[in-house]
Amino acid sequence: MNDKRVLLIVGGGIAAYKALELVRLLRKAGIGVRPVMTAAAAHFVTPLSLSALAEDKVYDDLFSLTDEAEMGHIELSRSADLLVVAPATADLMAKAAGGLAGDLASTVLLATDKPVLMAPAMNVRMWAHPATRRNLATLMADGVQIVGPGEGPMACGEFGPGRMAEPAEIFEAIVAALEGGALEGGAGSPLAGRRALVTAGPTEEPLDPVRMLTNRSSGKQGYAIAAALARLGAEVTLVSGPTALAAPAGVRRVEVRTAVEMLNAATAALPADVAVCVAAVADWRPDAVFGVKLKKGKEGPPTLRLVENPDILASLSRSGPQRPRLVIGFAAETNDVEAHARAKLARKGCDWIVANDVSEAGVMGGDDNAVMVIDGKGAERWPRGPKAAVAGRLARRIAEALA
Ligand SMILES: Cc1cc2nc3c(=O)[nH]c(=O)nc-3n(C[C@H](O)[C@H](O)[C@H](O)COP(=O)(O)O)c2cc1C
Repeated sequence: MNDKRVLLIVGGGIAAYKALELVRLLRKAGIGVRPVMTAAAAHFVTPLSLSALAEDKVYDDLFSLTDEAEMGHIELSRSADLLVVAPATADLMAKAAGGLAGDLASTVLLATDKPVLMAPAMNVRMWAHPATRRNLATLMADGVQIVGPGEGPMACGEFGPGRMAEPAEIFEAIVAALEGGALEGGAGSPLAGRRALVTAGPTEEPLDPVRMLTNRSSGKQGYAIAAALARLGAEVTLVSGPTALAAPAGVRRVEVRTAVEMLNAATAALPADVAVCVAAVADWRPDAVFGVKLKKGKEGPPTLRLVENPDILASLSRSGPQRPRLVIGFAAETNDVEAHARAKLARKGCDWIVANDVSEAGVMGGDDNAVMVIDGKGAERWPRGPKAAVAGRLARRIAEALA
């Protein structure tokens, strides 16, 4: 990545502070960063911090005589391999969608002939507003790649989608874009023309109309993998149990509740070149689902009988002529991780197992993961890192295997 350069446009939002961490990640990977700031962004982070981390001058004035003499705004707009807008404010998105060019950031976005990646960040109502929806649709139709936003508590005290993707996730999207050579799944993308199936999230096995058996899976790792595969150009179907997550851009999501529904939806998504089974599928379900709520009574607590759920990973691994070329399972283990994962690889008939130690604090439901990838040849231990980074690395390994 040492010869790659990014023009980073920082917009005026609370999330601008995360742009500093993004610059650090990019520089650590050897990627050159040339920063552009809007006037509003300077209220949130200082040009000095941005410049120091980027090890380059900050451009912020369209009408600067010195800047224009050194590097004209048109030259600036083409001086990098990729333009990244983080945070992409509602205002910047509107300007770019409308083709406005009233300041340096918007002028550069209009004048560039390079691919553009935006990481939107705004209040949940701003994100949901029909004007922003329209602008987003226009930008995507114009070929702008979107990463995030995520869902969660916001600096403004509200909750919902609009939170900027984490720096690690934006970093992975940038690496994928720079490596892929094309951003919109064009012919140059490593997974262009490939179909991917990803399962994610928990399943819910109902007992009666108000009760169910489920687990603590958040779906974050599976969603990150679906997003990473889509960024490399794959046509992705994400079969998801109930989660609080928004569908990643460019991914077709099929929502299910039970293991049986998940198996049916996954089978219906075949043929696929790769299947990644990340979902935490309940091993068992109650053998009877009561049509009315069970009541406490003199006879004491009811006895639950469980029956085994279908094994989705094993079914996909043995799906005959429909079998994806690469079937990958996740194994959440709490002890003897490698031994259990090897046994699972053999038992299920899949090609790789990605094992994670869920006894580690912060893995189940958290943003980080530490995994070991096991295939027929051996085991690779990957360092603990954000789920987005694990997803990006896995997507690149998949692209290499399918090449
Ligand atoms: C405290 C504060 C936080 C803000 N956060 C955001 C934000 O996260 N996203 C956004 O789109 N606008 C946000 N705004 C509004 C933008 O700063 C405003 O629309 C500005 O004109 C954007 O300019 P720019 O797009 O040129 O950077 C915020 C404003 C304030 C005062």
